[in-house]
Amino acid sequence: MGAADDDSPEVPWEVLRSRARAMTERSYAPYSGVRVGAAGITDDGSVVEGCNVENASMGIGTCAEVNLCGAMVGTGGRHLVALAVVAGDGAPIIPCGRCRQFLHEFGGSQLLVDTEYGILTLGELLPHPFGPDDVGARAG
Ligand code: THU
Repeated sequence: MGAADDDSPEVPWEVLRSRARAMTERSYAPYSGVRVGAAGITDDGSVVEGCNVENASMGIGTCAEVNLCGAMVGTGGRHLVALAVVAGDGAPIIPCGRCRQFLHEFGGSQLLVDTEYGILTLGELLPHPFGPDDVGARAG
C-alpha cells in the first residue's frame, strides 16, 4: 500500500513515466547494460530529467537520480515533488540507497516516488534520514 494515490491529480505521473522512458535512450550504460531514466517535477512545476552515466573506472558511474538532481540544481530548481525512475524495459526501477540519500536533500521525506509497489514517499524508502538539519546539530 502506497502513501499516495497513483492517480492523484496534481502529479502528472504518465508524463513523468514517459519522460523517464525517453531518458533511458540517452543513458550511457555500456558496462552494466542497465539503462536508467528519471524524470521529476519541481515545486514550480518544472520537469527535470536525468539518466545514468557509467565509466570505464567502474566505481565512479553516476545514477540517473543523482544526475537529475544535478540538472535540476543547475537550472535553478531546488525542490523535487515527485519522481519516476524506469529501466530500459520501461518498468519502474527502485532507487538505490545512495540515490535515496541524495534525493532526500532535494525532496525531503514527502517526495513521491513511483515504484513497482505503488507511489511511495521517500520517507517510506528512507526512514530516519540523515538530513541538512543533522549536519548543523552535529557541527562542533
Ligand atoms: N542505477 C541508477 O541509475 N539508479 C538507481 O537507483 C539504481 C542503479 C544505475 C547504476 C548503473 O549504471 C546501473 O543502474 C546498474 O546498477
